[in-house]
Amino acid sequence: MRFTSIEDFVGKKDLFYSRYFDREPHIFKAAIPGPLDDIFSIADLDEALNFEALRSDYMILAKQGELIPSHRYSRTIQVRDTPQVTYHNCVDPEKVRRLFHDGATIFWTGVNHFNSTVRRISEIFAEELGVRVEGDIFLTPARTQGFVIHHDPFDTYIVQLSGTKNWKVWPTPEERPKQWVSYDQKDMPEPVIEESLQPGDVLYIPYGTPHGPVAEEDTSLHMTFSAPPVMWSDKLESLVNAILQGDAEFRDRRYIFGRGEATDQSVEQAAEALIRKIREAEGKKEILDRSSSDASIGSKMTSLFQ
Ligand SMILES: [Fe+2]
Repeated sequence: MRFTSIEDFVGKKDLFYSRYFDREPHIFKAAIPGPLDDIFSIADLDEALNFEALRSDYMILAKQGELIPSHRYSRTIQVRDTPQVTYHNCVDPEKVRRLFHDGATIFWTGVNHFNSTVRRISEIFAEELGVRVEGDIFLTPARTQGFVIHHDPFDTYIVQLSGTKNWKVWPTPEERPKQWVSYDQKDMPEPVIEESLQPGDVLYIPYGTPHGPVAEEDTSLHMTFSAPPVMWSDKLESLVNAILQGDAEFRDRRYIFGRGEATDQSVEQAAEALIRKIREAEGKKEILDRSSSDASIGSKMTSLFQ
């Protein structure tokens, strides 16, 4: 595996964190030297399409911003004519092929669940960023647009693998949108990026930043790694929880509802006790740093004979 660090995708960490991370979108030109076929190729996608048990929840097809209902490219699979082992909603490769040739973008989500290279790259991002990271693959036919302008609730790292893809990315807003927004290009400022990604280029887009791909002359294959932001509320919650659950004063003292226990004064006293414990807590930094060791984050490779 040729990748060992996030620096393989975004260059020197110091510069990335001080200049771009959570601040502004940026293209890291020719970050990954070719050839790129060993990372992920259209042949790998073909192979996956023909996995008979690949569920259509993993495979999303879209055309001009509209999702294609999954029943249009699904079939039912039965193993050894056993009705108990019947899987509905499995991907039908022939139907997918026809829809792709009719202009649909293929969006295979959660590829890290299936492919060891994508899983390893997801792990590199997860270890660095302290969150679970998913890897997705997009194959877009020439002269089409699968998705309209939108923002995502997570940071994205887009790696162009083959063909080219033209992106427009707008400035990262000071206040990030909390919900879905319908963007109309004529009401938006000038994009800060309007450029064609070449194989080996990496595009970083902070969460909440509007972006949209633009149709190109050739078929494009890219992968995207999505990393949700960690908020202070998440981190403080884990610190406070560790204290509350580890301290008998909070954990074993019963709160009695309906006997006037919760006066403003008593709440204040309990809060002060909690603040005191937070000040005294050992290993605060460990709790705040604890991330990639969390079982929900890793999807570590294991070997049966090691
Ligand atoms: Fe996106």
